[in-house]
Amino acid sequence: MKFPKDFFLGAASAAYQVEGAWNEDGKGISNWDLFTKIPGKTFEGTNGDVAVDHYHRYKEDIKLMAEMGLDSYRFSVSWARIIPDGDGEVNKKGIEFYNNLINECLKYGIVPFVTLYHWDMPNVLEEKGGWTNKHTVDAFVKYAKTCFEAFGDRVKHWITFNETIVFCQKGYLTGSHPPGIINDVKKYFEATHNVFTAHAKSVLEYKKLRQFGEIGITHVFSPAFSVDDNKENVAAAYHANQYEIAWYYDPILKGTYPKYVLDQLKENNWTPAWTEEELNILREAAPKNDFIGLNYYQPQRVIKNTVDAEEHAKAHCDGAPGNASFDGAYRTVSMKDKVYTKWGWEIAPDALVEGLRLLKSEYGDIKLYITENGLGDADPIIEDEVMDVPRIKFIETHLKAVKKAISEGINLKGYYAWSVIDLLSWLNGYKKQYGFIYVDHKNNLERKKKLSFYWYKKVIEERGENI
Ligand code: NOJ
Repeated sequence: MKFPKDFFLGAASAAYQVEGAWNEDGKGISNWDLFTKIPGKTFEGTNGDVAVDHYHRYKEDIKLMAEMGLDSYRFSVSWARIIPDGDGEVNKKGIEFYNNLINECLKYGIVPFVTLYHWDMPNVLEEKGGWTNKHTVDAFVKYAKTCFEAFGDRVKHWITFNETIVFCQKGYLTGSHPPGIINDVKKYFEATHNVFTAHAKSVLEYKKLRQFGEIGITHVFSPAFSVDDNKENVAAAYHANQYEIAWYYDPILKGTYPKYVLDQLKENNWTPAWTEEELNILREAAPKNDFIGLNYYQPQRVIKNTVDAEEHAKAHCDGAPGNASFDGAYRTVSMKDKVYTKWGWEIAPDALVEGLRLLKSEYGDIKLYITENGLGDADPIIEDEVMDVPRIKFIETHLKAVKKAISEGINLKGYYAWSVIDLLSWLNGYKKQYGFIYVDHKNNLERKKKLSFYWYKKVIEERGENI
């Protein structure tokens, strides 16, 4: 089987992780610009001030993407570059940068797939409560509209938010991302609801403009499976899927929240302060979503949690198994018969297919893209070549899984490897590499093609026939 002609074989990045130029050309200061500078927050104090300097080197980078043959490039727009103070004047230089980036992609026939929010927010808004303040919702919609109007003649694929669960959980529960708040469950749910409302309003605005492109959201896709048939563990996995999948996917695709979670929020006094009008907007926007983007790295293997409440706050921040859920109901574990990356993430292409089947049975035939999938590794350099063989194996087995899912009738329309180029891995600095292109931080950020670069190029040329 070949991947169909209209199936995107692409790769992705995000503004804060690649751009740099943090205070150039009128860009406002973002929450991440400040958060990474708090001592002890990131590996060796690394930050995105320069990142891999994509802001200045985008031409060189896109030329490499064209050489690789990418059908599409998924990147994000930095809100603070477009509207430096969050909801005031538009920064012409910011618009100009993304116009150039988009035009450069189109010059080579690379389809731009644009994320509006990949975690960096103008800090002025963060200071006023970020996603817990409803004013941020209106500011986001204004920013989204500005982007649709400026770029929508050429950009036909929009993602509103990237991984709401991550920036809300880490922002309000574990405190490892901005705004760095620990264990404020009420704020956590409040923030998620405001994000869903901002998404829904942006979808409606986009449709009003009649630009005839598509719009959706990207979620983490990390389905939970019980480690065995023990009833308590099965119930724990159900609980995990309700809180981590249904809570995120239902308001987008069904326009309502899952009853199981709602009932427990009520009991605990955690229900967000929503209005009838907001709930109606969710309902109105739901059928207008064109797709869901899935970031798939690993599933969760789940047991009922028995560790005491104190431990919950110590949740791991890097996604590796070993943490208890915020409410103490379940715990993720690693298993002897599974395979793990150097960072302890499970490698499980089969669980992707299994998860996709569950998704289809719950949400039907909505169009899906894998908007991220890849291997975080410390790549060996042998005789001056970056020999990232494990990455090739990882992507190959996951592309096989994608083929299997398509052959079963799952409506998958694209695959974006994470990441196109080595980039700032948020808290992990530059030591955790994901890219097809290596960046030499000791030598003027020089780019170098990895083994996987040539491999992916061939895969695209052959439309995956030999996978
Ligand atoms: C998902 C996030 O969207 C991306 O920014 C991050 O670098 C990868 N996960 C890897 O952790």
